[in-house]
Amino acid sequence: MVAAGLLALSALITLALGRPSATHSRFVVRDKREAVPFGFNKGNGFPLLPPGMLRLTIALPQSNVSGLHQSLLDVSDPTSDNYGNHLSKAEVEQLVAPSAESSNAVKTWLSKNGITPTTTSASGDMVEIQIPAEQANALLNANFTSYVHEASNTTVVRTLAYSLPDDVHDHVAFIYPTTQFIPPANNKVQVKAIQPPAAVSKRSRSRRADIPSQCAQVITPACLQAIYNIPATPATASGNSLGVSGFGGEVANPDDLTQFLAQVRPDITNGTFAVQDVDGGNDDGQGTTEASLDIQYTVGVATNVPTTFISVGDQNQDGDLGGFLDIINTLLKQDNPPLVLTTSFGFDEAPFAEQAPDLAQTLCNAYAQLGARGTSVLFASGDGGVSGPQANNDCDGQAFSPTFPSGCPYLTSVGSTQGNSPETAAPFTSGGFSNIFAQPSYQADAVAGYLKALGNTNQGLFNASGRAFPDVATQGVQFAINVGGQFQGVDGTSASSPTFASVVALLNDARLNAGQAPLGFLNPLLYSQGAAALNDITSGSNPGCGTQGFPAVAGWDAVTGLGTPDFSKLLTLVTGSAASGSGNSTGTGDNSASGNSTATATDSGSASTDTSVATDTSVATATDSSVATATDSSVATATDSSVATATDSSVATATDTSVATATDSTGVDSTDTAGATATATDSSDATATDSAAATSTAAAGTGKGQGKKHHKGAQAAKQQGAKEQQQQQGAQ
Ligand SMILES: *[C@@H]1O[C@H](CO)[C@@H](O)[C@H](O)[C@H]1NC(C)=O
Ligand SMILES: *[C@@H]1O[C@H](CO)[C@@H](O)[C@H](O)[C@H]1NC(C)=O
Ligand SMILES: *[C@@H]1O[C@H](CO)[C@@H](O)[C@H](O)[C@H]1NC(C)=O
Ligand SMILES: *[C@@H]1O[C@H](CO)[C@@H](O)[C@H](O)[C@H]1NC(C)=O
Ligand SMILES: *[C@@H]1O[C@H](CO)[C@@H](O)[C@H](O)[C@H]1NC(C)=O
Ligand SMILES: *[C@@H]1O[C@H](CO)[C@@H](O)[C@H](O)[C@H]1NC(C)=O
Ligand SMILES: *[C@@H]1O[C@H](CO)[C@@H](O)[C@H](O)[C@H]1NC(C)=O
Repeated sequence: MVAAGLLALSALITLALGRPSATHSRFVVRDKREAVPFGFNKGNGFPLLPPGMLRLTIALPQSNVSGLHQSLLDVSDPTSDNYGNHLSKAEVEQLVAPSAESSNAVKTWLSKNGITPTTTSASGDMVEIQIPAEQANALLNANFTSYVHEASNTTVVRTLAYSLPDDVHDHVAFIYPTTQFIPPANNKVQVKAIQPPAAVSKRSRSRRADIPSQCAQVITPACLQAIYNIPATPATASGNSLGVSGFGGEVANPDDLTQFLAQVRPDITNGTFAVQDVDGGNDDGQGTTEASLDIQYTVGVATNVPTTFISVGDQNQDGDLGGFLDIINTLLKQDNPPLVLTTSFGFDEAPFAEQAPDLAQTLCNAYAQLGARGTSVLFASGDGGVSGPQANNDCDGQAFSPTFPSGCPYLTSVGSTQGNSPETAAPFTSGGFSNIFAQPSYQADAVAGYLKALGNTNQGLFNASGRAFPDVATQGVQFAINVGGQFQGVDGTSASSPTFASVVALLNDARLNAGQAPLGFLNPLLYSQGAAALNDITSGSNPGCGTQGFPAVAGWDAVTGLGTPDFSKLLTLVTGSAASGSGNSTGTGDNSASGNSTATATDSGSASTDTSVATDTSVATATDSSVATATDSSVATATDSSVATATDSSVATATDTSVATATDSTGVDSTDTAGATATATDSSDATATDSAAATSTAAAGTGKGQGKKHHKGAQAAKQQGAKEQQQQQGAQ
């Protein structure tokens, strides 16, 4: 009846202004679809208008988005003085709060129409109204109707166009749901039958060297511990936390978890998780595949880190995307949001690029807000190779299809690998380049190196200036999970995001115990010093759209990112930590040495970041906030905020903020300015200077320190316009 009154009033004003309006100002079309977007149909057999109320989110422009991004990068850059000085809840809210002018304009407009909004975000940048659909039609000059997304048979309420009064236009970022025809989020892990994993009888300290043979057939937490050097020891820090997002009615069943742990992690006696409901989410009942995977590989890997399953219900009238808005608003309202958040759901980016880039920006900025407050936000990159979140042929002969939110530069996107010796890219891994978000500077060097290696491959099929993903990877094939009491195998990046999240949660445990801040937004660290603490994956690809997709190569690539975690190296990197010396070792400074090795860490500034680790007759020397790791008769020397890693009788030298990695009887030198990376494998020598990335690979048996080189990205600094000398040396 309120609506009828408004409609009558509108009709009168129409005469005066030519357009229906209840606010005495002219309607301006805000957004418009010429036709019902592909994949959607008029709701056949559904009532034209939904019987209940329409719940609309009105997003207001955020006042200082560039300030948010700047602050986020400042506290996340390991070379910044502000590294780890995360923003408070109030500080973040101040950056994204709408201007008083916008708030007032929207409030006044709604109030004139007899509508009282509820503020749904902590900063006030989103308000919600609940009104009958006819009233929404009048308010927005819209025609809300039911549409069915055919592939998923889900019904949504949308309008093909909506308008706003011209004096409100600039004060609204978007209204949701209106014209956004976004297919539901995808999380469909591939389920397979497997042999149930053998029962584990006793905890054994795992090392990469002794990966259980069973891991070739089925991945369990013990496999991940062995492959990635992840400790089984329970985390102890108070204040640690790990959140797992669940959408679409997914249920994590505690009995399934108990059975899973009894079989594969019997050393965990009290493995449990909490449930947080958003939008009336319900986590009772029979376990479902995705939630079981996500919970079993967080509780089962991040040993004793308090874990919460955040169950987002369907009271968002719009399935997943409404839930994506609601979960971040809920978490941002919390004084202590989880320190790590993993999400195994994602979308095709294209509908966002075409219809709702503003909505994508707002969600991305929400992840930036969490990161600025110290949360590490991780997303599975997707399971359709270069064809999107799920394999499909729609893009054959056309441009690749990136995924969202992975294309958001303020989160960490996780791809998948499979196998060992070598560990290779899993072909389903989504990866590529965003068409919405520009490439962030933290990955410019890494991506420039990749584009050089790529040459003309896939030219014209991707947007080379976009944010490139994924950032990292972990195993993602043949994960054993327990659903409804039965073991089954699953494949997908849905397995990888929880795994990497667990690594981060355990790293946070060490940092919190050392009195350090949680890691927060990871990428600036990962793309600089972190690269040397990851296993570079150099084979495999992610086919799709009728192509072979992107190849994995040495250095960053659009399938496995920078690579898979090596927990011990990451621990050294993020804590500058110290185990005690053992055997005939000498250790000074903040270091650890074992076997007949020498570890020397000198120089000051901050002693806790001068870190060296030497094992098995090796020598590691680190000075000036550097990290050196040497194993198996190798020598690693790092000075001036550099990272040097040497294994298997090799030599790595890194100076001046560079990264050198040497394996298998190689010698690497990396000198000079920010971001220089040298990686040498197989009896080769590489020297990288001036922001260069050099990769050197040699055929075996060509003599010591000599080898044929394949390099990529020696001119990584070009994008920054710096006139820097680049040089790569190495025997041919
Ligand atoms: C935006 O935020 C940045 C970073 O905190 C700050 O330096 C700047 O002054 C802010 N700008 C405005 C207009 O408030
Ligand atoms: C609203 O949409 C319905 C269904 O598409 C259509 O039949 C009707 O004509 C539309 N009304 C207006 C006013 O455009
Ligand atoms: C689609 O959903 C509707 C409503 O839930 C249901 O009646 C119909 O049977 C479903 N169609 C298919 C093909 O599953
Ligand atoms: C689990 O048990 C361990 C050892 O008994 C204890 O230290 C830890 O606090 C327990 N964790 C939880 C989450 O109850
Ligand atoms: C490529 O990405 C940029 C963002 O980096 C975007 O502005 C541009 O529109 C994209 N181009 C296409 C063709 O989508
Ligand atoms: C220490 O050195 C002595 C000889 O000097 C050797 O016998 C012993 O095995 C060494 N210990 C270790 C742990 O390497
Ligand atoms: C340390 O040196 C001693 C004596 O040369 C040797 O027996 C032992 O194997 C060495 N230990 C290691 C871990 O290399």
